[in-house]
Amino acid sequence: MSIPVFAARHVYAAVDPSDAVEAVREAFVAHARGEWLMPSKVYVPVPPDGDFRAMPARGGGYSVLKWVTSFPRNPERGLPTVSGIVLLSDSADGRLLAELDAGALTALRTGAAAVLAAETLGMVDGPAAVVGCGVNGRAVARTFWARGREVLLWDADAERAAQAAEELGARAAGSREEALAADVVATVTPGSYLARLKIAPGVAIDADRDFLETEGEAARRIVAPEREIAESAPVPTISPKELRQMLDRGDPVTVLDVRNRQAYTDAGASIPGSVRIAPHEIPVRYQEIPRDRLAVAYCT
Ligand SMILES: NC(=O)c1ccc[n+]([C@@H]2O[C@H](COP(=O)([O-])OP(=O)(O)OC[C@H]3O[C@@H](n4cnc5c(N)ncnc54)[C@H](O)[C@@H]3O)[C@@H](O)[C@H]2O)c1
Repeated sequence: MSIPVFAARHVYAAVDPSDAVEAVREAFVAHARGEWLMPSKVYVPVPPDGDFRAMPARGGGYSVLKWVTSFPRNPERGLPTVSGIVLLSDSADGRLLAELDAGALTALRTGAAAVLAAETLGMVDGPAAVVGCGVNGRAVARTFWARGREVLLWDADAERAAQAAEELGARAAGSREEALAADVVATVTPGSYLARLKIAPGVAIDADRDFLETEGEAARRIVAPEREIAESAPVPTISPKELRQMLDRGDPVTVLDVRNRQAYTDAGASIPGSVRIAPHEIPVRYQEIPRDRLAVAYCT
């Protein structure tokens, strides 16, 4: 039995950065709906050089395992920080179907997740800065660029930032402060970079997940000013009778059924024509809600 092997160039040729954003959005929604099982990843530390990570998942008829490294000093040896393989199997019978380069897949996913986070927070205008211009930083920059954003690049190694800027047709920031003053900042560096910085209120930070786990409070404080504004804005309410009248009149209104799965199943019915979208899905499915008309959400 021969197994197809997709090298980095095949993975990059198959998925462009914008397609990756949509694929990652769908994946997050599917995971939020409970359609994918994703057990916690397992770390195999190799101090002081780095670690291996095993990341299993199952969904959509497939089971996958990403076996990937983080060896931050590898570039000094001419090797990538992140490398490894993704094994794709058929969930029905366990057959191994394909092997894919994990470095390329990680870069596409990391770029997409950073851009999706910024877009989901409503930060769709203005320049985006990327701090750290290695393999994954460049992937983040490429994805912002593909979404039509101006990109500013900063790296501790100025030559790296300049090279990346030339490669992408983007601009290297004149200083670290200039990069950090951008509307959105994505840090893609090894270690807890943010801990040493002062971040202006309202600046959105997309930090490495490992950092968020260890320095969670600091990261939450950084995004808090934006969230507080959103949450403190008054949301008008209307009665079921008023909604009935609006629908009878044919007013342009989108009705959102935001009941959780259990409440929906128990009730057995919903207002005809309503869009089902659970509250926890709104951050990743908000684009399905038309902006040019009133949206009315109901639950039980
Ligand atoms: N959580 C995730 O989803 C995820 C995904 C991919 C990579 N990562 C992690 O992100 C990190 C970067 O990955 P990579 O493949 O791009 O590595 P890389 O070695 O190719 O690039 C890292 C870059 O960061 C720069 N840098 C280091 N310290 C800096 C600092 N203080 N200020 C500015 N720039 C600095 C380096 O000069 C280098 O250019 C790694 O630690 C990797 O494990 C996390």
